[in-house]
This record gives sequence, C-alpha cells and structure tokens, in this order.
Amino acid sequence: MTRETGETRNAALLTVEDAHVVYAARSGHLFRPDRVYALTGADLAIAPGETVGVVGESGCGKSTLARVLVGVEKPTSGTIAYRGRDLWGMPSAERRAVIGRHLGMVFQDPATALNRRMPVRRVLRDPLDVHRHGTPAQREERVRELMSLVGLPAQLADALPGQLSGGQRQRVAIARALALEPELVIADEPTSALDVSVRAQILNLLLDLRERLGLAMVFISHDIQTVRRMSDRVITMYLGRIVEEAPAAEVTDRARHPYTRALFSATPGLLDPIDPIPLSGPVPSATRPPSGCPFRTRCWRADAECAATMPDVTANGDAEGGAHRFRCHHPVAGDEPTRTLVLEATRTTPAPSAPPEHP
Ligand SMILES: Nc1ncnc2c1ncn2[C@@H]1O[C@H](COP(=O)(O)OP(=O)(O)OP(=O)(O)O)[C@@H](O)[C@H]1O
Ligand code: SF4
Ligand SMILES: [Mg+2]
Repeated sequence: MTRETGETRNAALLTVEDAHVVYAARSGHLFRPDRVYALTGADLAIAPGETVGVVGESGCGKSTLARVLVGVEKPTSGTIAYRGRDLWGMPSAERRAVIGRHLGMVFQDPATALNRRMPVRRVLRDPLDVHRHGTPAQREERVRELMSLVGLPAQLADALPGQLSGGQRQRVAIARALALEPELVIADEPTSALDVSVRAQILNLLLDLRERLGLAMVFISHDIQTVRRMSDRVITMYLGRIVEEAPAAEVTDRARHPYTRALFSATPGLLDPIDPIPLSGPVPSATRPPSGCPFRTRCWRADAECAATMPDVTANGDAEGGAHRFRCHHPVAGDEPTRTLVLEATRTTPAPSAPPEHP
C-alpha cells in the first residue's frame, strides 16, 4: 500500500513494491516441499524521520517484512529501493555498503544477536572497521560516543555479552545498529525477550534516540498499544498481506478493515472496556491461504465476493496524519463504533461447537 504521489515516492527513504517471500516448508514431499507464503504483494514507503508500526498475529509475516526491509532477505519477487535505488539490482558489495551504512536492525533477543566471545568494544568497532569509518583513533572515539549515547557506562567496554544484563545487552545491540549513523532503524520485538522491568527503559531509549538523531523507524511488537503510541502510521498484516495502513491516531477507533478493528478491540482501554470482537476459527495455514480475501474464514462480514476475489486497495485520501488505505470489500464505516461491531459479529459468528464426543 504505497503512498503513490510521485512527490512522496521521491522523498521516500525506503520503498517496497509488490514484494513476495515464499519459503519451502518443512512439511510436504522431500523433493516437492509445500510453499509457505510468508509475504504477499507488500507495498510500502517509509519517509525520513517517520515511525511505521507493524501489528498482526504470530506468523503473519512481520519479521519477514522486517528482513526484506533491512536487506538481509531477498524477496522472491518484487523490489526494494533505498532512496530510489533498487537494492537487489546493484552489485552485492554496493548493496552491503548501502545496507551497512544506512539501515540498522535491532532484533528480539540480544543474547543470540551478539557474538558471545566479543567484548562490547569490539562489537561496536566491528561495523566501523568493516565500513572503514574514519581513522582508528576516530573509531575508538566513536565507540565511546556510542556507549554514552545508549547509556552504557564506559567501564563495560571490555565486558563480554554474557557478563551483561539483558537490558545492557539490548543497549549494546542498539548502539551497534546506530554505529554508522543509519537513517532508518528496524526494531523487531526489541523488548519482548527482556524482563518487564527493563522494557520501558529500552522503549524510552529508542524514543529518545529517534528524536535526537531524527531516525526513521519500523517498530514491530505484539504489544499493539505500544506500537500505536510509538508510531506515526500503523500497518496491519494478516497471513502475509498488508491489509490496512492507517495513521496511528485513527487505528483504534476509525480503522476500516474488520481485522484491525478486531485486533484493537482485544486490548481495550481501562476507562471504557468492551468485549472484544469475536472471530471464528484459527488463522489458516500460510501454506494454503484461502482464496480471495485471506481473512474471510474468520470475518463476520465475509460473503461470496470475499471468497472469489482479493479486494483492491481503497484509499481514504482525506485522512488526517497521512494515508489511510485498506483492502476490504465491505469495510467498516470510519465512524462506526467498535461496540456496534461487537454486536454485529456476535450475531453472525457461530459459537464454537462442542468437541465431538467419543463413542
Ligand atoms: N526460514 C523459514 N522457512 C520456512 N518458513 C518460514 C521461515 N521463516 C518464517 N517462516 C514462516 O513464514 C511465516 C511468517 O513468519 P514470520 O516469522 O515473518 O512471522 P511473524 O509475524 O514475525 O511471527 P511472530 O509474531 O511469531 O514473530 C510463518 O508461517 C512462518 O512459519
Ligand atoms: S473482504 Fe470480506 S472477508 Fe475480507 S475483511 Fe473485508 S468483509 Fe471481511
Ligand atoms: Mg517475528
């Protein structure tokens, strides 16, 4: 769901067009494995300085999208461009240089993302050495600067990752991602492996760095309220597809896609709690996505049209705070309260049937 004006496109930092990622599944025949449709037809543009949040249930393709964005995974088809330059159309040395210098990635688990045998100083010097950043003295100075930037005491420079707390390790990982002053940082569940008590500190650090360094950010988390609070725009994914892209201010109450409304209804605000919108059945397998709209097997509004064709992108051009796009044949009205949808869905969603009795 790209922002399609030429002006915005030219200004974009990173653009993804019709990106697909298909994996060979572990299931199926040894020589004819099933295909996992991890990412399907993804379109997205990220502007300098903006934060794009990504939400969706486990397995919907968030990490796959993140890996494609940061250039560590080549899409099976489609293009990804940094400032208009096709990453996979350039020679590999050039691609590595562009990715290394301009795009940073923070992973979920700093314990596995950091080399256990490298002290902090070397972890942070490594990208500077690889990309021949300044003189050796300047690199040492940059290491000190990075540690101070992420709030790590200088005396930890010789510590190994195993000697650090989880929060300190994630600070090292963030400092490493920032070493070459990237314009965009992609954070995939950056706090979910951490103790609850340090999660807020790491989130605040990311927010603070974003402001101070003017970073663009892609932020992925299961905690969708945090994603909403941190982001300018929120992207909803379902079964490998981007099904909605909405300004963060609109995503809770004015989302147009039934799935986005259902997701956000399951995390009510404390002041006005409602029952969540009930959805029928499990998420279908990514090896056999349903025909038409991927959400149709669980959607209370689904009809024959939804089973027959994938909805095109509809754009609400007048949305405040940027583009609002969605793919749905029977979208929710922008002013329809979620409370009404709970009733509508309860009337049409069959109650879970009793398990079959054993003879
Ligand atoms: N290397 C791989 N080989 C085969 N299938 C894969 C591979 N990586 C991911 N998948 C599958 O691709 C789909 C998307 O996975 P992905 O990790 O992108 O989801 P996710 O939204 O990040 O999930 P989570 O919220 O659990 O992190 C899933 O069905 C997953 O099982
Ligand atoms: S297209 Fe149909 S099945 Fe898909 S979300 Fe819209 S109403 Fe539901
Ligand atoms: Mg993931």
